[in-house]
Amino acid sequence: MFVIPCLKVPQRHAQLYRKYLLSQGVLDHMYCAQKHSDGTVTIPVRTSVLAQLDLVALKEHVAQDSFCEIVDIQAPPLSKKEKVKSFHKRLAETAKSFLVFKGETWSEDLERDIPSRWQCHGDLVLFSEGCFSNAIWKDIGSEFWTAVALALGVKRLAQIKKISNDGYRTPIVTMLFGDSSYVTHIDNHIRYEFDVTKCMFSPGNITEKLRIASFNCIGETVVDLFAGIGYFTLPYLVHAKAAHVHACEWNPDAVQALQRNLQINGVSDRCSIHQGDNRQLPLSDLADRVNLGLIPSSEEGWPVACRLLKRGTGGILHIHHNVTTPLHHKPSKHLSAIDVNKDSSIQRDMQVWTAWASDAARRICTLLLDITGSEWKTNIKHIEHVKTYAPHISHVVLDLECKPL
Ligand SMILES: C[S@@+](CC[C@H](N)C(=O)[O-])C[C@H]1O[C@@H](n2cnc3c(N)ncnc32)[C@H](O)[C@@H]1O
Repeated sequence: MFVIPCLKVPQRHAQLYRKYLLSQGVLDHMYCAQKHSDGTVTIPVRTSVLAQLDLVALKEHVAQDSFCEIVDIQAPPLSKKEKVKSFHKRLAETAKSFLVFKGETWSEDLERDIPSRWQCHGDLVLFSEGCFSNAIWKDIGSEFWTAVALALGVKRLAQIKKISNDGYRTPIVTMLFGDSSYVTHIDNHIRYEFDVTKCMFSPGNITEKLRIASFNCIGETVVDLFAGIGYFTLPYLVHAKAAHVHACEWNPDAVQALQRNLQINGVSDRCSIHQGDNRQLPLSDLADRVNLGLIPSSEEGWPVACRLLKRGTGGILHIHHNVTTPLHHKPSKHLSAIDVNKDSSIQRDMQVWTAWASDAARRICTLLLDITGSEWKTNIKHIEHVKTYAPHISHVVLDLECKPL
């Protein structure tokens, strides 16, 4: 078994050490840092720079009241990027040897057609659209898919052909290997069960689920306007401890999965499901928070969200939106050339997100006035970047506080 040199530091100083090692080019990006039960964290460092590492100076620079030492860690977990690389490599190798064995010629086109994006749901791997599109895969037969499943260590394989624009965002999914399309996905101690051929699951929204889980919603009534199978409804109930969630969903398959997910997570008694178009929801003046988790835009839900907010005290709208950063968008004059890195591009994007948020806040104010007949004020509490949806398109969430005047 191989070992990797790591810097062992106290958990509470681990971020500071990591940042510093990163800035000095010392981090080994192949592996993940690991937390240990003795309250320490081991951060993988590059073997080639070990000799130059002055631990006393390092400690002085990062946190004088801490400690650091070099330890050898056996086979630390691979970083996410390396995992993706190794998964892709295993797939490509399996496909290549299978085809070559069958007398076919391996080509760069075929290599490019091997998936580099997928979702793992328990023992099922769901490949994304735009791969395995070459005609050769069409009738390749179960022997090939068995070999792929074996190489990836899973029991079932499926592929999203596309996400339909039917309002339900129903994924058009084909099972490639294995029969049942029911999966169990566990995120942050919440169990989600659903049929991959009938409901979509967005693993890229995990940061938002974790953020919701960190909210304190004790005593609050929350409305989740686009509940799906409970992606956000469940963290509101299980972790944020909302007193009650009204979950709206019009896709009968998603409603069925939502009902089951509420049950298996033991929170059905604090949730009312409203099946149907949320714009027809016969509720008003009851919500402390409204979650509008629909992209590319949740605008169709803004009027109902305004109607739902408590008239006396107001509340918070969590508005999801895909914001496009114009291609010609240039760095602001205030940013120096050395800022041409991820942080500065996020800063530049932030200007665009803020402009969108200010416009949304103004329009929500007008809607609130129209719907309630009285004046409100809105306050942009936070803009959360959930994921990069496509080049120049960011999925963001605006936390908008709305208060009656
Ligand atoms: C994108 S999915 C849910 C996504 C989830 N919030 C996530 O991040 O993974 C949006 C859900 O809203 C539902 N939906 C869309 N428009 C709706 C409407 N007008 N009324 C009720 N449900 C709606 C769709 O059926 C779908 O299940």
